[in-house]
Parts: sequence; C-alpha cells; structure tokens
Amino acid sequence: VRRGISDHATQFREPPLVFAFDIDGVLVRGAQALPAAKRALNILQGDNPMRMKIPFILMTNGGGLGEEERCRRLTSRLGFEIRPSQFIQAHTVLKTVVHKYADHPVLVLGGRNDDIRKVAERYGFKHAYTTLDVKAWNPAVWPFHDLTEAERASTKEVDFSKTPIRAIFVYHDPRNWALDVQVICDVILSGGLIGGPYKDPDGSVELIFCNPDLLWRNEFDRPRIGQGGFRVAFQAVYKELTGSNYPYTQYGKPTAATYQFAETVLRKILEDLQGKAVHQMPSVYMVGDNPESDIAGANGAGWHSVLVHTGVYEPENGPPTHTPSYEANDVEEAIRIRMRVFS
Ligand code: G3P
Ligand code: MG
Repeated sequence: VRRGISDHATQFREPPLVFAFDIDGVLVRGAQALPAAKRALNILQGDNPMRMKIPFILMTNGGGLGEEERCRRLTSRLGFEIRPSQFIQAHTVLKTVVHKYADHPVLVLGGRNDDIRKVAERYGFKHAYTTLDVKAWNPAVWPFHDLTEAERASTKEVDFSKTPIRAIFVYHDPRNWALDVQVICDVILSGGLIGGPYKDPDGSVELIFCNPDLLWRNEFDRPRIGQGGFRVAFQAVYKELTGSNYPYTQYGKPTAATYQFAETVLRKILEDLQGKAVHQMPSVYMVGDNPESDIAGANGAGWHSVLVHTGVYEPENGPPTHTPSYEANDVEEAIRIRMRVFS
C-alpha cells in the first residue's frame, strides 16, 4: 500500500488524498486557533514524507458573514492562507438555489444586524429582509425588544403589509430567538403578508435552515446550543399554535446536498491543480468533532471520517453516535495517522 500510493502520486502528480476540515472544535475554539491546527496545516503544505502539498477544504456549519470576510479572519487566526475557493460555510450552498427566489421578497435570519442581508444580496437575492426590518416597520410585532442604535441603523424601510414574503432562510444562528420565532410564525400563518389574516398554511412559504447543529463547541467549557436548537424551539411553538410541524428544507452537514456541493468544490480544486477533468474523486478524509454532522455526513457521502476529541464529542461520554473511520486526539494526529502510510 505504502509504495503503491506514493508511486501513484508521483507518477500521475495526482494527490492520493484530500482532506475536508470542520472548523469549530477542530481548527478553532471560538476566536482562538487550536495549536494542533497550525501544525496540521503545515504537514499539508509539504512537511510530509511525500513532500507533496495535499489539497484541503474547510466545511463548517458556521456562517454569518461573506465567504471572503470569513476567510480573511481564518487566515489571520490560523496563520495560513484560506481562500474562498476552498471554504464552504452553512449557507454557501444557497448559491445553488438563489435562482428560485432572486426576484422575490425573502426573509433572511441569523447573525448580527444586517450582515446576513449583505451575504444574501451578494448571492443574488434582490429583496432580502431581516426580522429587525419587521420590528422597525411595526414595533408592536414583538413588544419585548427595543432596537439598539446599531440594529436600527441596519434596517430598511419596508411596508410588510404590501410585501408578500415567499421564503424564509435561516442562514446562521439567530440572535433574538423570540422576535425571530414570532415573525416566522406571522409569515407562515398569514401566507407571507406579516400582520395579514391567519389562514390554513399550505406550505407555500418555503422554510430553509442551513445548519442542523443542536450543539457546537467554542471556548466555553461545555458545548453550546446551535441553530438546530432554534429550529426545535420554532417547531415547538408552531406545533402549539397549529397542532403540526411546518415542513422545512435542511442544508448543512450532514445533509447530502452539502456534501455533494463540497464534492463539486473539491473537484474544481483538483482540476485546477491537475489541469484536467477529474472524474474519480480521490480518498476524501473529513476531520470533525461532531458525530451528528461531520462523521454522519462523511460516512453518508462515502468519505473517510476522522473524529477528534477537541470539540463536541467527548470520549468519556461513551462511544460516538456515528462510527468514524478512526479517532484522533486532535487534527494534527488525525493527519499524522493517515500520512503514516507514507512515512
Ligand atoms: O455555528 C457553528 C456551529 O454550529 C458549528 O460549526 O465549524 O463545527 O461545523 P462547525
Ligand atoms: Mg465542529
């Protein structure tokens, strides 16, 4: 195996493998880069027995800012250049569906102020509105929050009684769950016109979530509740109001849509590297901290999966809910174990 793979790589200059890294709990914890991350990326930049640069992508259920800005921040935190062409965040996949709603009013949720509106507009959504716009339009929509100066400055003047919302996109983790749950319910129950008479919802307002994570890991001592928790909270309130759950589309790891999108990104990187069409994907190794998203998704996509112990999953809590190809203490060990075949 050892000689075969390295000869194959040398002979065809094709990388025998590529890596996909989760971010939170693998490369960073909150704003801090994990020490193992810098050493790991060093190995992939050529400090390995094959003296080869091993291609990699980043795949996160995080989001909230444009890909370019997030790559700038990651580059400075990790001390390695991270390019938008190798970066996939929770809502990047929405670029493939923007054509359905580009010219229609949509509600975009998550992140701070109108950061997500700016992301949506860069994707091509021409009429993207926030729940803060709704609060600015009619403060009584949710009387228990007063807009901060920064929030008010981020709003657009819109008459939502004349602006039928066609779809609701939860891009990133909402900041004001109460306001957001109220406004989502208003849009769905009135068929798109906020404040309009409630009628039997016919599913005509599409609801899309971009990150299913119930838990994720930042620098706090215990995992944090993610966008999956917001979805559960919304569905619980909606069910109390209507007796049923509302149908929704889920993107993000572990969904097949996000992994298929990631394969198109990987294929493009390999084709640019090799200067020719890539039909057969090489071995993809996904390194993640969350069995529910990273390991389940990679296993489902037919990739190899490596579970690290620096994030959501903690070995002392028993075996992971999804079985990885192998486990490692951190991202550096995850790579060294795989590269050992070449050493
Ligand atoms: O909001 C981010 C969180 O849900 C997970 O991020 O990088 O571990 O997929 P990540
Ligand atoms: Mg993670």
